[in-house]
Amino acid sequence: MCDRGPTAQDCIHRGRRLAKDWSKGLFRRSRFAPDNYRIVREVARGGMSIVHQGHRKSDNAIVAVKIIRPEFSQVAEQLEEIFDKGSEGEIAISLRHQNVVRTFDFGHKAGRYYIVMEFIDGPNLKQLIDGNNPRWSEHRLRIAIEAGRGLAYIHKHRLIHRDFCPKNILLAPDGTSRIIDFGLAIPAHLKQKWRWDRSGTAAYMSPEQVRGQKVDQRTDVYAYGVSMYEILTGRRPFPESRDKYRKMAVHLNIKPVSPRDYNRNIPVALEHILLRAMAKAPSQRYPSVEAMLKETLAVSSAFFGEGGRMPST
Ligand SMILES: Nc1ncnc2c1ncn2[C@@H]1O[C@H](COP(=O)(O)OP(=O)(O)O)[C@@H](O)[C@H]1O
Ligand SMILES: [Mg+2]
Repeated sequence: MCDRGPTAQDCIHRGRRLAKDWSKGLFRRSRFAPDNYRIVREVARGGMSIVHQGHRKSDNAIVAVKIIRPEFSQVAEQLEEIFDKGSEGEIAISLRHQNVVRTFDFGHKAGRYYIVMEFIDGPNLKQLIDGNNPRWSEHRLRIAIEAGRGLAYIHKHRLIHRDFCPKNILLAPDGTSRIIDFGLAIPAHLKQKWRWDRSGTAAYMSPEQVRGQKVDQRTDVYAYGVSMYEILTGRRPFPESRDKYRKMAVHLNIKPVSPRDYNRNIPVALEHILLRAMAKAPSQRYPSVEAMLKETLAVSSAFFGEGGRMPST
């Protein structure tokens, strides 16, 4: 019997043992938690991070714990060095506004970088738009205005977000918008000389960001224009492509499709606002989100009254 090969039963046992060892490894890895917090479950994966729901041990409060994937820790550190700026947590922790996610804590543990925030039990706006969810479609103008208020506050804090887009806006259970993700944010007035950098989300990047040139807050005016366009119409203003570079290139010389082609409920005056925000030259755009917001609010109340409820398409 000694020369008999492994039986089917042996193979099953061995397979089970291996699977157990493997899942133990995975379990250990997924159980990484900063001191003072317990990880409850994974909520979402971003481009550079994994976001979890967690418990703060001191008071058992529910929080969100964003852990930068190890392979991106270096990228984050390089950005800090290039721009001589603080880390994502350092930048976000001083922000307090009803339309900006609240950051409570940040740090390093075992070579991993984490940020602890208020937990928003709700999807990001991109998911709602793509799912044609009424939580977005019935409240689109209000959502866009609230996100703009958050962005104007960030600018008042002398920061440039550089990655404003519907994926980086969460809708809280009470329906209010919250801006997240300060991974690319930089101070508006850098002491350092500008170094070439082209990070951002391709579909929302301003022409100057695509070219890797120096940017100011008007790059966020552009991204706010593209995002507001998408929030109001459910579509993006430029031809879509799977290729990241093609997606970026459209910002340089392609004219946006008129938003009223997608949604006739958009007043002409609001269409003008969107197109001005998306002007190729920064000097042709609104000088600030605040100025753009002021005009948007005027159009909103003139056409849709106090509630600013634009009819669904
Ligand atoms: N405070 C939060 N509460 C709940 N979910 C969050 C929170 N922050 C982020 N998320 C979820 O995680 C996703 C990725 O977060 P984000 O900060 O954009 O990471 P990345 O920098 O990797 O893009 C978001 O789209 C959202 O679904
Ligand atoms: Mg993000």
